[in-house]
Amino acid sequence: MSKILVTGGTGYIGSHTVVELHNAGYEVVIVDDLSNSNIKILTQLHAITGKWFDFQEIDLQDDRAVQEFAEQNKDITGIIHFAASKAVGESVQKPLKYYRNNFYGLINLLTSFNSKIDFVFSSSCTVYGQPDSLPVTEAAPVKKAESPYGNTKQIAEEILEETAAVTPELRVIALRYFNPVGAHETALIGELPNGVPANLVPFITQSAIGKRGPITVYGNDYDTPDGSAIRDYIHVVDLAKAHVAAVKRLAENKTSSGYEVFNIGTGRGSSVLEIIAAFEKVNGEKLNYNIGPRRAGDVVQIYGDVQKSNDELGWKAQLDLNEMMRSAWEWEKYIKANPFE
Ligand SMILES: NC(=O)c1ccc[n+]([C@@H]2O[C@H](COP(=O)([O-])OP(=O)(O)OC[C@H]3O[C@@H](n4cnc5c(N)ncnc54)[C@H](O)[C@@H]3O)[C@@H](O)[C@H]2O)c1
Repeated sequence: MSKILVTGGTGYIGSHTVVELHNAGYEVVIVDDLSNSNIKILTQLHAITGKWFDFQEIDLQDDRAVQEFAEQNKDITGIIHFAASKAVGESVQKPLKYYRNNFYGLINLLTSFNSKIDFVFSSSCTVYGQPDSLPVTEAAPVKKAESPYGNTKQIAEEILEETAAVTPELRVIALRYFNPVGAHETALIGELPNGVPANLVPFITQSAIGKRGPITVYGNDYDTPDGSAIRDYIHVVDLAKAHVAAVKRLAENKTSSGYEVFNIGTGRGSSVLEIIAAFEKVNGEKLNYNIGPRRAGDVVQIYGDVQKSNDELGWKAQLDLNEMMRSAWEWEKYIKANPFE
C-alpha cells in the first residue's frame, strides 16, 4: 500500500481527496497547520471512512519541522500539495503573506523530500487569465497574473518545472483546477469559507440559509448568451478523483516527462444566472439576487478543454451541475445544524 502525504488535507479539496485516496486503497498521512481548516474534519473523515487518519499539525513554512517530518516518514512515495493561502482579495492586501506561505511551503517540501518522490500540485485556471480562445487547452499561454495569489500559482509551476528538469527522482503533475464546488454525498465535509465568500456557490448557499443578504450578480452585460459571466464548475469529488488518477499515473511511470500539466474541469461553461436557476430548481429554494456592476479583475468567460485529462490521465468528470448544487446545499444545512465551533 503506497503512502501518500496530503498537505492541506483538512481543507476543502484536501479532505475530499483523503476520502478518495482511502477508497482507492492508499495509506494517507495528513499535514496541516489548521490556519484555514478545523480539526473536527478528522472526526468527519472517520465518520465517512471508518478510519482515523495519521495527522500532523505542522506549518510547512517551518523548514526544520518539515525536514524532521520527512526524516520520520521515509516511506512516503507521493505528495499531494494543497496547503497554501488562497484568498485572492486578501493576497492583494497582504502580498508577502502569500509569497511567503505559498513558496516556503513548496520549497521546504521539495528540499526535504529529496529522494524519489511523486508530486501533485494544486494549480488553477487563473494562470490563463482571459484566454484568447475557448475551450482553453493546456498549451494556451500563461497570462500576467491579476493578483499575488495567482502569481504564486504561476511561479510555483515554474519552480516545479525547473526543479523536475534537473531532478530525475522528482516527477510532477500540476492540476489546473477550474471552479471547484459542491460537497461530499454524505454532507459530512464541504467548503468552510472564512468570512464573506468571494465565490458564487458558497455565497448562494449562505444567502439561501439566511447567513448573508441578497446575492449580487456582478454584471449582466457581458458578451455571453445571458450577459452574466461564465465558468467551468467542477464537483469537488470529481476533482478529488483527479488527484488519485494523477498519483496512479506517476506511480505507474506513465508520465511523458518529469513535469506535466492537466486541466481539471467539465469542459462546459455555466453562467452565473444558470447556476442560480439550477440551485433553485434542484433544491426548491427561491434565491434573492440582484444585478450589480462588473467586478474588477473578473474574466468574462472561461471553460477548459479536458481532452488531455480524459485521454492521458484517464479521468473524466462524472457529476453534473444538479449534483453540485444539491450537495452544496445539503452541506450548508448540515453545518448550520452541526456547527464546528
Ligand atoms: N478552492 C478553489 O477554488 C481553488 C481553485 C484553484 C486552486 N485551488 C488550490 O487548491 C488548494 C486547496 O484549496 P482549498 O480550496 O481546499 O483551500 P483550503 O484553504 O480549504 O485548504 C488549504 C489547507 O492548507 C492549510 N494550510 C495553509 N497554509 C499552510 C501551511 N503553511 N502549513 C500547513 N498547512 C497549511 C490550511 O489550513 C487548509 O486546511 C490550494 O492550493 C488552492 O490554492 C483552490
